[in-house]
Amino acid sequence: MRSSFLILSIINLLTIVHCVNYEPNWKSLDARPLPEWYDRAKIGIFLHFGLFSEPSYVSEWFWDFWRDSSTPYVWQHTQLLRYMRDNFKPNFTYAEFGSNFRTEFFNATQWAEIIKKSGARYTVLTTKHHEGFTLWPSSYSFQWNSMALGPKRDIVGEFSAAIRKIGNIHLGLYYSLFEWFHPLYLKDMEHNYTTHEYVRLKARPELEELINTYRPELLWSDGDAVYNDTYWNSTDILAWLYNDSPVKDVIVTNDRWGTNCHNKHGGFFDGPDRNNPDSLPKHKWESAISIDQVAWGYRREASLDQLLTINELIHQLLKTISFGGNFLVNVGPNKDGRIMPIFEERLSQLGEWLEINGEAIYESQIYEKCQMSKNNQTFYTKKNDGIYGITLDWPNEGIMEFECIDYDDVNQVTMLGSDESIKFGPGSNGTLVKFPKWIPNTFKYAYTFKFHV
Ligand SMILES: *[C@@H]1O[C@H](CO)[C@@H](O)[C@H](O)[C@H]1NC(C)=O
Ligand SMILES: *[C@@H]1O[C@H](CO)[C@@H](O)[C@H](O)[C@H]1NC(C)=O
Ligand SMILES: *[C@@H]1O[C@H](CO)[C@@H](O)[C@H](O)[C@H]1NC(C)=O
Ligand SMILES: *[C@@H]1O[C@H](CO)[C@@H](O)[C@H](O)[C@H]1NC(C)=O
Ligand SMILES: *[C@@H]1O[C@H](CO)[C@@H](O)[C@H](O)[C@H]1NC(C)=O
Ligand SMILES: *[C@@H]1O[C@H](CO)[C@@H](O)[C@H](O)[C@H]1NC(C)=O
Ligand SMILES: *[C@@H]1O[C@H](CO)[C@@H](O)[C@H](O)[C@H]1NC(C)=O
Repeated sequence: MRSSFLILSIINLLTIVHCVNYEPNWKSLDARPLPEWYDRAKIGIFLHFGLFSEPSYVSEWFWDFWRDSSTPYVWQHTQLLRYMRDNFKPNFTYAEFGSNFRTEFFNATQWAEIIKKSGARYTVLTTKHHEGFTLWPSSYSFQWNSMALGPKRDIVGEFSAAIRKIGNIHLGLYYSLFEWFHPLYLKDMEHNYTTHEYVRLKARPELEELINTYRPELLWSDGDAVYNDTYWNSTDILAWLYNDSPVKDVIVTNDRWGTNCHNKHGGFFDGPDRNNPDSLPKHKWESAISIDQVAWGYRREASLDQLLTINELIHQLLKTISFGGNFLVNVGPNKDGRIMPIFEERLSQLGEWLEINGEAIYESQIYEKCQMSKNNQTFYTKKNDGIYGITLDWPNEGIMEFECIDYDDVNQVTMLGSDESIKFGPGSNGTLVKFPKWIPNTFKYAYTFKFHV
């Protein structure tokens, strides 16, 4: 009796395990539940680092803008032609930046410490951008990687180890599918993407090497938008990732798997850069934004007014989280391998705010009734028996109405960072709250009330 029960249980268990076998089609792949850690983490730090960090001028698209006059980026193209003419010897090639790219101050522990201090729960590093230069000794990127050229270091390896060591931050790796000037890619392009040599011999095996070696929990795919998923063999890659890869149970990915996939297929939806939907999305999404509003990689010429202030950053964070998104904040380390103090400061300000207000952010859920006030100054999230109203205003009169909170539902109001008991009462169509005494160094940027319901 007992042993047959045991055998049945084992058979059940095997069935459950066996059942989770994804087929290389979107119907099957899209049915995979997103691993839970991702929605709970909410805040991530994106790092754009690569050979483009060496010239660190105009954009991480430097090489393409400089070489390709057919892009719509005429201003960038003209600017870079002039810059190269005035500052480099004739016939200087992009590859020659490689020997100057020494990253002599790169210290992965320091990056991990800055990320930790920001309050982020995940991070994403560009391991290969569209230039094709890999930040690890890729077996598929001969002489075009950070071990053979430039730093002579495994940047991805050092970064992954430092992130794991510091703890409580999920490791994400960005990988660009396409490469502007890869000969095999150019050939496939000439054949109108009816051949797949680049995918078969470069992108696919290289991506597998990256995943097998560093075992990230997030794969941030990009550079897909030149053709549809048929060319990239995306469903086959994802079936491998979800069924057979060493990270099959934890890996989270995005929707950049071909022109027909954005906001439709994959894991969470990134949509366009600086995603900012105006109505509540039905699917888990992410807003990737850069503190430098002009570019993702470091730009030496960036001016202060081009960088998001901490208030702007918090405002965008609130709009994103209240609408159910994750917030991925980008900084570009410089050519020396340093996250410059202005970016470090911005990230640490974010961390200070999350230290007090994180309860309303991490692991929070969408408050279905209402996500933001009519004047866009107050945002709402919920968790267990609390609804959080987070406002950018500190009213002069010290009284504000939270229009989305029904007074009859409220048992008690508290404020994050304050011990004072908060007075509240019925408003014209919501709940009135009396702000407590101002506490310097605690109240910053946006203020969170918890409505216990
Ligand atoms: C640059 O390259 C062109 C074409 O290969 C060559 O004719 C020219 O002499 C080169 N210029 C210099 C300064 O090396
Ligand atoms: C890297 O930074 C950490 C933390 O600041 C420091 O303890 C360590 O000595 C640095 N390593 C090197 C090689 O400079
Ligand atoms: C690719 O498409 C273009 C435009 O439709 C066509 O002119 C060309 O012949 C095609 N090339 C190949 C190799 O099929
Ligand atoms: C992708 O492109 C191929 C080749 O042009 C075409 O046969 C296929 O229908 C396209 N797939 C989608 C989903 O549009
Ligand atoms: C997609 O990948 C699978 C498995 O590696 C392979 O058998 C198939 O030929 C690939 N398809 C294309 C179009 O490259
Ligand atoms: C609030 O945000 C919405 C959507 O982003 C926008 O359409 C509207 O103009 C904003 N209202 C105010 C008062 O800023
Ligand atoms: C009252 O608030 C709700 C949202 O909580 C809103 O839908 C409704 O339009 C508001 N009514 C008035 C009169 O402002």
